[in-house]
Amino acid sequence: MIVTCQAGFQDLLAGELAALGHAVAEEGPGWVRLEPAGRAAPAADGTPTPVAAGDWAFAHVTLTDAREIKGSSVNALAQGLVEAMLAAVRGERIESAWPCVFHCPAEIVGLGRRVASVERAFHELLRKRLSRVSKLAVSDLPRALGEHRGWMVYFVDFDRAFAARTLQIHGPRRMADDDRAPSRSYLKVEEAYVLAGREPQPGETVVDLGAAPGGWSYSAAKRGAQVLALDNGPLKGGALGHPQIEHRRVDAFGFQPEPGQCFDWLFCDLVEDPHHVLSNLVEPWLSRHWCRRFIVNLKFGRVAPQAFLAEVRSPQGVFARYAPGFRVSHLYHDREELTVVGEVKP
Ligand SMILES: C[S@@+](CC[C@H](N)C(=O)[O-])C[C@H]1O[C@@H](n2cnc3c(N)ncnc32)[C@H](O)[C@@H]1O
Repeated sequence: MIVTCQAGFQDLLAGELAALGHAVAEEGPGWVRLEPAGRAAPAADGTPTPVAAGDWAFAHVTLTDAREIKGSSVNALAQGLVEAMLAAVRGERIESAWPCVFHCPAEIVGLGRRVASVERAFHELLRKRLSRVSKLAVSDLPRALGEHRGWMVYFVDFDRAFAARTLQIHGPRRMADDDRAPSRSYLKVEEAYVLAGREPQPGETVVDLGAAPGGWSYSAAKRGAQVLALDNGPLKGGALGHPQIEHRRVDAFGFQPEPGQCFDWLFCDLVEDPHHVLSNLVEPWLSRHWCRRFIVNLKFGRVAPQAFLAEVRSPQGVFARYAPGFRVSHLYHDREELTVVGEVKP
């Protein structure tokens, strides 16, 4: 099994999977390989908390039934990949569009060009062997989260790739920018909607804690939501003067809704100690039902990331207690931060 992640975060992905009891065999820039057995013996200090594969926080895509293909030339690799695919689909009928995706870590200089050559050679060979099936191939990753059937090829080096018929999309993906968005952070909240499976609707209310310069507020306001943006800093770009956004220069930790008021969404993207945010902000907002749903970004740059992730997931933690179906992910647009989305239980 190959699991991909944001380049530079493979140690954290490997650590997460090891902590969940999986046997990590190898890792490289943006990927981790697990032993075929899938799971190692539980750690001596107890059974790891069960976390479904779809909920691995640092994972982007899992190549579930990955097999290794080696070759010293473009043609040898393409040939090996076609043979492996024909063996994998033997006995199946492919009647509709199927994802046929070639990826590699961008960090290895020149590898992208080689992969593009192998991909072209692969398609030429496939056309000769299975012309009808080859015409149905789609070169993009599926958008929907969860398991898909297709053919995903992930190169880890110039002469070595892994290919899988079954792939799992965990969620992180590059989002399209908006010229009026005042910050890069805008992309994070846009991506978080995919994880949440929902986005602010016209007329819904949003409180945005730590809102400046206003990327998240702008994202909700452009969908017609009514936003209360709290930050001492100024709003900019499309958020500045937006008729759907009210800006208040107040401390997010001191703010409380009116008695009986419940916002449809809590947004929180404070640059703050994440423990402080969890205890003194997320806890009151969720436990007192001040919001129905939330998108909370927690910066782990100054804490131990694995221990912090375990805390976020803990059954005694604030999310499990008040929003049991919550999801935590290291998004494509996240840096040293985790994004948690969820719905507060009634
Ligand atoms: C990462 S930025 C938020 C970016 C924003 N989500 C966007 O899309 O543009 C963090 C913000 O948190 C604000 N902040 C930090 N502590 C705060 C507090 N106690 N109350 C209100 N805002 C705070 C900072 O002023 C800063 O503007």
